[in-house]
Amino acid sequence: VALGVGAAHSADYPNRTITVVVPFAAGGPTDTVTRLIAESMGKDLGQQLIVENVGGAGGTLGAGRVAKADADGYTLLLHHIGISTSATLYRKLPYDTLNAFDYVGLVTEVPMTIVARSDFEPTDLKSLVDYLKANKDKVTYANAGVGAASHLCGMLFMQKIETPLVTVPYKGTGPVMTDLVGKQVDLTCDQTTNTTNQIKTGKIKAYATTTKERVPALPDVPTATEGGLAGFEVGIWHGLYAPKGTSPEILKKLTASLQKALKDPNVVKRFADLGTTPSPEADATPEALKAKLSSEVERWAPVIKAAGVYAD
Ligand code: MLT
Repeated sequence: VALGVGAAHSADYPNRTITVVVPFAAGGPTDTVTRLIAESMGKDLGQQLIVENVGGAGGTLGAGRVAKADADGYTLLLHHIGISTSATLYRKLPYDTLNAFDYVGLVTEVPMTIVARSDFEPTDLKSLVDYLKANKDKVTYANAGVGAASHLCGMLFMQKIETPLVTVPYKGTGPVMTDLVGKQVDLTCDQTTNTTNQIKTGKIKAYATTTKERVPALPDVPTATEGGLAGFEVGIWHGLYAPKGTSPEILKKLTASLQKALKDPNVVKRFADLGTTPSPEADATPEALKAKLSSEVERWAPVIKAAGVYAD
């Protein structure tokens, strides 16, 4: 009987609004990517996908919310690389990262940029590194909490230049950007989906991208390697998840809809304007996201253990 009811529910799915939890503040990069995808999927599925921002604790609060939600297809999670680093960063995570979710597919991989307030003194990456070494107790590095992409990039950057900086945590890099433009903090490393427009309009200063090649939307910004930090590369992959136990029929519908959204010309264009590209169809699958998550948990665990950063 239970099976029959489940099947009936899947057949008319979705028949009401779907909530997509973004585990960071509104107006930031995860929010931006999610809203573009949600709008397109909503048109395809015939029901609105609304975004709920559950920021805090580097994305683990929002992920925890979805891990405990009903597995009925009406609560989803759009999260990035931080879902894999937080598995090691947090001593007490309220969910088991590799067993708490079902997978819809990969969404995008976003480059990062090392950026500062517009009047920050250093003029290029090399002078930035010298300045940071000389002023490490004065400079404030903003991030979105332990487990955020901005935390990961900052951690790797500080390791690379062997200079720990004073860190200021926020609930997302949306509010970080407000304070960077307002010159309340000095420096961050954030995704192009949040920084491209502010760099182009001169509201913030860009030192480098974390990519192998320059980002087409930001042709004047050198790569970190060009700027003197050879091999400093970080890409922020994003995936769409459902709570564990979601019916295969519902997941199938969601994956098909995600794949369509990633080919939607409006999504493709908006992504390109923001310095990123949609994941190819072969990656927008449950199998690819599952494999990515487990390999990334494995990849980052020794890096984080070596750095010795933990949160409770
Ligand atoms: C956000 O959406 O605010 C960011 O992805 C936060 C981060 O991970 O740096």
